[in-house]
Amino acid sequence: MTQVVTLTMNPALDIATSADKVMPTDKIRCGTPRYDPGGGGINVARVIRTLGGDALAVFPAGGASGQALDALLDREHTLYCRVPIAGVTRENFTVDERQSGQQFRFVLPGPALGEEEWRACLGRLARLAEGARFVVASGSLPPGVPADFFQQVSDLARKAGARFVLDTSGEALRETRTGVYLLKPSLRELREWVGQELATEAEQITAARSLIAQGVGEIMVVSLGAKGALLVTAGEAVRLDPIAVPVRSAVGAGDSMVGAIVFGLTRGFSLREAVRLGMAAGAATLMTPGTELCRRDDVERLYGAPIA
Ligand SMILES: Nc1ncnc2c1ncn2[C@@H]1O[C@H](COP(=O)(O)OP(=O)(O)OP(=O)(O)O)[C@@H](O)[C@H]1O
Ligand SMILES: [Mg+2]
Repeated sequence: MTQVVTLTMNPALDIATSADKVMPTDKIRCGTPRYDPGGGGINVARVIRTLGGDALAVFPAGGASGQALDALLDREHTLYCRVPIAGVTRENFTVDERQSGQQFRFVLPGPALGEEEWRACLGRLARLAEGARFVVASGSLPPGVPADFFQQVSDLARKAGARFVLDTSGEALRETRTGVYLLKPSLRELREWVGQELATEAEQITAARSLIAQGVGEIMVVSLGAKGALLVTAGEAVRLDPIAVPVRSAVGAGDSMVGAIVFGLTRGFSLREAVRLGMAAGAATLMTPGTELCRRDDVERLYGAPIA
């Protein structure tokens, strides 16, 4: 039995490399590639394990790239449950351009899932959520999965007695109406969600509060990138300052934040301290190249205390 079960409906084999310059026509000679298992919930589970916690990742995957995910997760001892599908798992390709320091991210669409396939994911999750404290769903929905899928996950988590944490965007987020414990939209995602510009902090807090009042979720952590984060509940709204770090790659900052928040909560941290730990993990992820997530010693240093 694991304390945290994560769900990734649209996982990816992440491939990261570098090249002097990205340009048309000519062959672009790239450096040694790095392969990582990717996708929101998978990253969340990996970060929780990096921090010394316990998590299991559920995801649908298929094809040679799906098998590669198994091998990569086995290698780093991340627990997972793969639901086999007919389609071929997508690959995402990140190139760091050495000359400019710019990063190019090529994100492919995932394979379509059939109804039996996404229902099999829900079935697996329902069994694993029994006895878990948190169910964490992160990332997009692939074609074929209904837009209210995360509402179904919210209902399932509630039935199992687990708290549901959601990090997604667009229609998948809008179609989730009730029962979430904690949501982590970035400001961009919150703007899209409510259809307003939210230029001021007061407007951002009001928007988060109105979603809480509608019963969507109890806690909103609005991540503001280099500006830090807002923690909003029915009773409080606090702005947490960012932690300044040298930025190498922002891939996975949000996933690391979610992973560390959930890890903190499983260790009995107060909500505010868990979010502070999340921000340390987000910042620590910026310090690592390409698709690499955070390192535990960086997280502890930026948080300012050991986390054992
Ligand atoms: N440039 C930065 N400097 C310091 N901290 C940062 C920076 N970018 C991100 N962070 C930290 O990581 C957290 C998550 O980052 P961000 O708000 O970009 O979320 P995200 O989920 O990665 O964004 P999106 O999903 O919109 O791509 C922030 O709340 C912040 O604590
Ligand atoms: Mg995000």
